[in-house]
Amino acid sequence: MNLSVKIGALTLQNPVTVASGTFGYGVEYAQLIDLNQLGAVVVKGIRLERVRGNPTPRTVEVTSGLINAIGLQGPGVDGFIRKYWPFLKELKVPTIINMWGTTVEEYAEVARRFDALGGVGALELNVSCPNLKAGGAQFGTDLNLLSQVVGACRKATKLPLITKLSPNVVSIAPYANAAEAAGSDALSIMNSFPAMAIDIETRRPSLANVTGGLTGPCIKPIAVKLVWEAAKAVNIPIIGMGGIQSAADAIEFLMAGATAVAVGTANFYEPQTALQVVADLRQFMRQKGIRDVRELIGSVRTGK
Ligand SMILES: Cc1cc2nc3c(=O)[nH]c(=O)nc-3n(C[C@H](O)[C@H](O)[C@H](O)COP(=O)(O)O)c2cc1C
Repeated sequence: MNLSVKIGALTLQNPVTVASGTFGYGVEYAQLIDLNQLGAVVVKGIRLERVRGNPTPRTVEVTSGLINAIGLQGPGVDGFIRKYWPFLKELKVPTIINMWGTTVEEYAEVARRFDALGGVGALELNVSCPNLKAGGAQFGTDLNLLSQVVGACRKATKLPLITKLSPNVVSIAPYANAAEAAGSDALSIMNSFPAMAIDIETRRPSLANVTGGLTGPCIKPIAVKLVWEAAKAVNIPIIGMGGIQSAADAIEFLMAGATAVAVGTANFYEPQTALQVVADLRQFMRQKGIRDVRELIGSVRTGK
């Protein structure tokens, strides 16, 4: 039975990865699950400099979901290389580095630094952050900025580039096309939804940042639809994510057109989720007589 898939030049032993920001830098989960059984480890977003993040409270549970406003806390490129890379580089599975910047030049510089490091599996560009030079416009919701940032990173590295798209657009196809045209090898779909919760006793927002990003099972049907739409628009592979907590969820994403998936919020309440998804995916394929997981990709029947 074949479970391996390709994301650009990168081969994953199975299509199940973890979503950036829900898995620390891998090492935090090393006592809880066998990291070497994953398709890949994806780390929390890293920019050039260290980032302290937002004041607390930074997370709040809502019905079937979570709203977070961590504020992209992170150690910066140097801190990451010093503190986490010695552990990650010894893993048998690839590390995908989720990265971001506040300008196009910063993205390119971070990409260059990780290219020079050697041994990185792929770079995942988080484009859901504001461009300071463009007055806070989000890279991922402005087609021109998106093309610029992907193009600049493409010039800066030969590593596989995965562009992580925002769901906060009217139609995802033009953004998927723009990322592909600018040289992205793959897409991750999707990031969190802007959201808010209020404590009715105090009349205060539940998060210190007031608003945050909604994730977890409540967003899954929206994510499946966006993957399906993007898959029809591009020829590059898609990593699907949004509310996956079982193999059935993952299979939906594959059928919608994803080549691989990522487990996110579920890691917080059941760290074994990703490995359970791999085991149950295998079981599903055995039951259905499917020899190759790639048979599932885009296999949804939308015609009559
Ligand atoms: C606490 C938290 C932190 C996150 N941090 C990042 C991040 O640093 N970079 C990024 O691209 N996505 C980040 N995400 C988004 C996830 O990677 C993923 O796209 C999203 O959570 C949807 O998947 P899920 O519903 O399975 O959690 C974060 C999500 C959560 C819940």
